[in-house]
Amino acid sequence: MAYGEGVAYTFPPLANSDYLLQNRKESIRGVKFGRQGELIVNGITYNNAMTPLGLEDEEVADVMNYILNSWGNSSSKIVTVDEVEAITE
Ligand code: HEM
Repeated sequence: MAYGEGVAYTFPPLANSDYLLQNRKESIRGVKFGRQGELIVNGITYNNAMTPLGLEDEEVADVMNYILNSWGNSSSKIVTVDEVEAITE
């Protein structure tokens, strides 16, 4: 949603998401390929599905860098295209 807050129990937040900030590879994989199944974000269990977004690797890197540095999130290590390329389903 506008401030990355998600919808509790349905769409996990991106703002202040412990999952996003601590599971870099898994988060890249989710943005690249979509994801489904059980997922715990900030202590709340989600069990839903995110469809693949259909982005190129460079776009996945851009989106990751945006979400890692928005709504109070901050990450000093930039996500590169090489890093996205290396992640497979
Ligand atoms: C640029 C757009 C998007 C980004 C960057 C994004 C990113 C993420 C990330 C990083 C997660 C992992 C959990 C977390 O840290 O919150 C996640 C999970 C999820 N996303 Fe997205 N997402 C996007 C678009 C969407 C859309 C359009 C939908 C729904 C139509 C969606 C539905 C979900 C759901 C339901 C989950 C949890 C899946 C589960 O329970 O296994 N996302 N998303």
